[in-house]
Amino acid sequence: MDASREAETLAIANSRVTIHMAASLDGFIARKDGSVDWLETSDEFPDGATMDPEFVEAFLKTIDCYVMGSRTYETALNFDAKGLGWAYGDKPVFVLSTRELARRRDTVEFNSGDLAQFVNGRLRPRFRAIWFVGGGVVSGECLRLGLADEVRYSILPILIGDGISFFEKLDRDVALHLTEVKAYKTGMVALCYEVLRHRGKAKHVT
Ligand SMILES: NC(=O)c1ccc[n+]([C@@H]2O[C@H](COP(=O)([O-])OP(=O)(O)OC[C@H]3O[C@@H](n4cnc5c(N)ncnc54)[C@H](OP(=O)(O)O)[C@@H]3O)[C@@H](O)[C@H]2O)c1
Repeated sequence: MDASREAETLAIANSRVTIHMAASLDGFIARKDGSVDWLETSDEFPDGATMDPEFVEAFLKTIDCYVMGSRTYETALNFDAKGLGWAYGDKPVFVLSTRELARRRDTVEFNSGDLAQFVNGRLRPRFRAIWFVGGGVVSGECLRLGLADEVRYSILPILIGDGISFFEKLDRDVALHLTEVKAYKTGMVALCYEVLRHRGKAKHVT
């Protein structure tokens, strides 16, 4: 194997695909109409940890790129337009879409091809920490294709009854290994799971 091929193989082996979203306790990431007003909760859990802004800033620096579906992109653009900011800093953002969408930022790139080929062939050789940040359609697809290494699930202290699921249309069980649990003063619980390969059970097996 030549040196550049060897370096690429090593980069792929060291890369990590994380799915991260915040959800209600009943497993929804947005209401049916896409709204996320319920993310602002007002619980207090005195024994919980404080979200230290310096830690958050340092942690965000460890993320190398973001991947999202077109609907999540549209929500992010709306937030930005309302003056609530762009959550992804100057990191590359890859938006999955089959449509022609407005490219409002230089850091945004669109992709419409084969998702497995895109992640394994283009992202893994270039980026170490690859974060899938929603929505439910893209997270489900990422897991169905066996692309995710880790799932980070932040549960908010609220039930909303109905909405867009964290993972849409999973066709099999996905076995997970719990690696982190942290409760915050805001009542949010952050869970981190490693995705166990080849341990899922097909759903429609008789
Ligand atoms: N609570 C949270 O942490 C959180 C995080 C993220 C998002 N959200 C919310 O979730 C909602 C959006 O989630 P969602 O599940 O409805 O949609 P989504 O996953 O954000 O986007 C789905 C769209 O992405 C495109 N897409 C997906 N896979 C593709 C592929 N392989 N190739 C090309 N295009 C692909 C398709 O759009 P085209 O029609 O453009 O082809 C598809 O309709 C929003 O309301 C957002 O606010 C919440």
